[in-house]
Amino acid sequence: MTTLGVNIDHIANVRQARKTVEPDPVQFAFLAELGGADSITVHLREDRRHIQDRDVFLLRETIKTKLNLEMAATEEMLAIAKKVIPDYVTLVPEKREEVTTEGGLDVKNKKEYLKNFVKNLKDSNIEVSAFIDPFSDQITSSKEIGFDFIELHTGKYAELSGYEQLEELQRIIESSYEANDLGLVVNAGHGLNYNNVKEIASINNMNELNIGHSIVARALAVGLEKSVREMKSLIFSN
Ligand code: PXP
Repeated sequence: MTTLGVNIDHIANVRQARKTVEPDPVQFAFLAELGGADSITVHLREDRRHIQDRDVFLLRETIKTKLNLEMAATEEMLAIAKKVIPDYVTLVPEKREEVTTEGGLDVKNKKEYLKNFVKNLKDSNIEVSAFIDPFSDQITSSKEIGFDFIELHTGKYAELSGYEQLEELQRIIESSYEANDLGLVVNAGHGLNYNNVKEIASINNMNELNIGHSIVARALAVGLEKSVREMKSLIFSN
């Protein structure tokens, strides 16, 4: 059965817009779990633009599902992961100037560095996933490096339409079979929403989908009317 990992970075984005204490992603992780989230994902970025170190440590103590720490393969992040001990780490590429993760991690061209990095995490009992584009050479390299999981990048699939989208879906399906045959557990994510998720969720042996933006956007859509009503009633009761 395919499970759902909920990425709560956008909750922290709203908090950091004011550099205040609300909304607190730790509280929203609890609500996501109430809604059925099977894991909670946070990306601790080098520039700390949304999730803060404090969030990661508190989530480790408070969530009842699994903690997926997304991070770049840097020494700074390795040291933090080894203190937090998330259930798993997903290694992603990171550029300071990007709005969100662009493209998968090029594991093929960093094999030796990543072998040591992954081993170091696994020695601390942390499972490790690689966020990669759905290409055969990236899949075989992920296996060689020693990753337990891969997360197939669905961003391109999400952006395309019509025949091109079907072609990209086919590439993702074939990649997931190839990875499974090699013994890798297959996750997928990026850009998935209420209109395009079903095709990806129905891929055989799809383990987990990681979804953030569309879920947080939907939360605003279903919650804003109530929050305005509550404010209005406070103003009226004076
Ligand atoms: N997976 C990875 C590796 C990501 O970097 C992100 C975005 O932070 C997601 C999944 C979730 O993507 P989205 O917010 O578009 O659902």
